[in-house]
Amino acid sequence: MMLITGATGNVGREAMRLLGDRGAGVSRDPARNTPLEALAHVEAVLYSPRAATPELLARAAERGAKRVVVLSAATVAHPAGDPRFIAEFRAAEQAAQRSGLEWTILRCTDFAANALAWAPQIRGTGVVRGAYPQAVTSTVDERDVAAVAVRALLEPVHAGRTYLLTGPQPLTQAGKVQAIGRATGRELTFAELAPEQVRQGMLAAGLPAEIPDRLLGSLADYALAPGPSSTTVADLLDRPARTFADWAADHAEAFR
Ligand SMILES: NC(=O)c1ccc[n+]([C@@H]2O[C@H](COP(=O)([O-])OP(=O)(O)OC[C@H]3O[C@@H](n4cnc5c(N)ncnc54)[C@H](OP(=O)(O)O)[C@@H]3O)[C@@H](O)[C@H]2O)c1
Repeated sequence: MMLITGATGNVGREAMRLLGDRGAGVSRDPARNTPLEALAHVEAVLYSPRAATPELLARAAERGAKRVVVLSAATVAHPAGDPRFIAEFRAAEQAAQRSGLEWTILRCTDFAANALAWAPQIRGTGVVRGAYPQAVTSTVDERDVAAVAVRALLEPVHAGRTYLLTGPQPLTQAGKVQAIGRATGRELTFAELAPEQVRQGMLAAGLPAEIPDRLLGSLADYALAPGPSSTTVADLLDRPARTFADWAADHAEAFR
């Protein structure tokens, strides 16, 4: 059985679906709804740093689990943004490496699903207001992350490997908004705001300071130098990685 932590998240939900298609047994989020005894039947754990703890891995290892797959971030190897967020991912990687389980680390760039944060503005006005329109990342489709994660959960050959997972194409933030415009058949624009305006807007909307800290720190760095790119998704899945345009076409309804 595979244990999926963060099972309602972007990656976890898709991983559950893919494992279900393969007929693999799946359990989810033990801290919330699965008795710890169920860990006795767990073969591999998908470790989502926000949803799981090192103690969970220790318990799974004690009860006979064999593998852990960590959803980490590209910033661990390619620093961008506030170091304290990088440290969280590094700690998750180290928890897996010290757990006694065979580990696979997936260092991901920003997920395409992050663009859903623009949906209310796009639906309402067709204008996305934000900072750093020229920040460049090779955004990865979270469905591709899940597909790689499922391979690593099921196939021991990935043990001890650290993969950099990115989309196939570097894109600016403004370019992503244009791609959503093409997918929805609308002319969309990105209106640049000063970073401090974005921060104040988020705080006024009731978001915790952590959200603008995470977002603005990394965008500032990606405006200076593009984030990393790799071919790992295509290499591992034997098919092209999904583009941001693919993602936008598949999620167009969210922006209408
Ligand atoms: N978004 C990105 O660009 C990006 C890039 C690199 C790495 N990552 C990492 O990839 C992982 C997966 O991301 P995602 O977008 O699929 O999911 P996510 O939205 O970051 O996380 C949502 C999942 O985590 C669970 N969760 C959140 N806080 C929890 C807590 N305190 N205790 C237990 N469960 C908790 C949620 O459960 P409920 O639904 O029950 O709240 C949900 O299943 C995350 O660790 C994230 O940091 C994300």
